[in-house]
Amino acid sequence: MKPLNDELLWKGAPFLVFAAFLAFYALTQPSISSTRIFSKAFAASAVIVLSASIGMTGVAKVWPKHRKGLEHRKSWGVVGFVFAFSHAALAFSDPLLFLPELASSRQNVRIGLMALVIFAALAVTSTRFAEKALGKNWKRIQRAGYVALALVLADVLVLGDGTFVKTPIGLVLAFAALGGLVLGVRGWFERDRGFREL
Ligand code: HEM
Repeated sequence: MKPLNDELLWKGAPFLVFAAFLAFYALTQPSISSTRIFSKAFAASAVIVLSASIGMTGVAKVWPKHRKGLEHRKSWGVVGFVFAFSHAALAFSDPLLFLPELASSRQNVRIGLMALVIFAALAVTSTRFAEKALGKNWKRIQRAGYVALALVLADVLVLGDGTFVKTPIGLVLAFAALGGLVLGVRGWFERDRGFREL
């Protein structure tokens, strides 16, 4: 593959994930509103993209031929945050959140909100300028990403009183978040032992 195509594929990957989830929800749940379909597609792709962003350092350590992905880690984090924010905004803007059938989802809102605030801090501080300005504190802030991903994992596990994780999509999202968390933490330890990032 030509380098330019390769670059486009890495950059465009989050949007392909979103398009795949949008098609999936539209095809499998045709009776629900388009707002809910978009909200669910944004939520699911946010989990995948944020897990990939946080787990990338560990992936690069375990499979060094994928080191190139490190260059896209920050942009995936920002796009993942935008997806998560769009999901939350749609959920809030719709009577959706107040439907009796979604009563259990309301318990998740607090966990989701905490994760969202942390992801917002990571997105805002992902620039080189912020990295320089914050010095040592920058790493500390970035490490809060592991806490946010753990919250997302908890959110997926308790969604729908625990029934969501028994669905195929719930299982995929739970494994993605768990994988991202384990690989992210592994990458963190390797980095501290002198593993140099790109
Ligand atoms: C203020 C923040 C948030 C609010 C108000 C919120 C609200 C909701 C609501 C109402 C649902 C049920 C949707 C439905 O059944 O149609 C839902 C599901 C979901 N949320 Fe959130 N959420 C928030 C943050 C987050 C965050 C930060 C994530 C992860 C990055 C997330 C991931 C999910 C997932 C994976 C689902 C299940 C989607 C599905 O049914 O397939 N949420 N959320």
